[in-house]
Amino acid sequence: MADGPLEIVPLTARIGAEIHGVDLTRPTHRQLEEIADALAAHQVIFFRDQHLDHDSHKAFGRAFGELAIHPGVPGLADQPEIVAIHADADSKGVAGENWHSDLTCNAEPPMGSILYIHTTPPVGGDTLFASMYAAYDALSPKMKAYLEGLTAVHDGDHVYRPLFPDLDKRYPCNTHPVVRTHPVTGRKGLFVNASYTTRIVDVSKEESDAVLGYLYAHCANPNFHVRFQWRPHSVAFWDNRCTQHLAVWDYFPATRSGFRVTVVGDKPF
Ligand code: SIN
Repeated sequence: MADGPLEIVPLTARIGAEIHGVDLTRPTHRQLEEIADALAAHQVIFFRDQHLDHDSHKAFGRAFGELAIHPGVPGLADQPEIVAIHADADSKGVAGENWHSDLTCNAEPPMGSILYIHTTPPVGGDTLFASMYAAYDALSPKMKAYLEGLTAVHDGDHVYRPLFPDLDKRYPCNTHPVVRTHPVTGRKGLFVNASYTTRIVDVSKEESDAVLGYLYAHCANPNFHVRFQWRPHSVAFWDNRCTQHLAVWDYFPATRSGFRVTVVGDKPF
């Protein structure tokens, strides 16, 4: 594939772009820079017709930072950085069915994740992504002032213990600002999610429940979203610091299958 400028096609004015003109098994240095810029601008970027084996998937991820090992879900036996994302007629649930940012229970939640789906169901199986910049920007000035300086607890235990009840293991639990500043763009975004965030600190449980409930309903507004329709061999790369996502399981009993790598991040501020 020629090393011309990438074609970057925004999917909405707020979030999401599809990128054409790159082979992710051998991106050039300049293309990697353009991809990093596109991720900063669009928060989640999509690629079609890619054929990533595990090595090229990991190499692409490593172009953006060290790869993380998932603290809750085991990776592949010989490649712990790679998590299989798979659902079929025997599945009792799928990964990421509720709105979430990945692993916000970690002290340093991931910078981003790169999901490669090689097998898609005949219909359905989309992933929704929500812009936490857009959600924050749409809050009233009074709500922004209220949230400024608040922190919230993000707990992995209630997410992973039901999946692996036999394991005697402690899952991460950490406190992060409710409004986070993106370390690259400097933009502010909401940083609470219905999967991991359990409690706003220093307010009553009733107040915390009410505020979190309001914020989750606010983030579910489709005006902040892009919906990605997978085709076989598509790739989604999301910036976990300013987005949430949700995998729609509307294709049972069909099969949807792929692999994910996750790039380490830093402490939210
Ligand atoms: C995930 O939450 O990482 C899974 C997303 C998907 O399967 O689309």
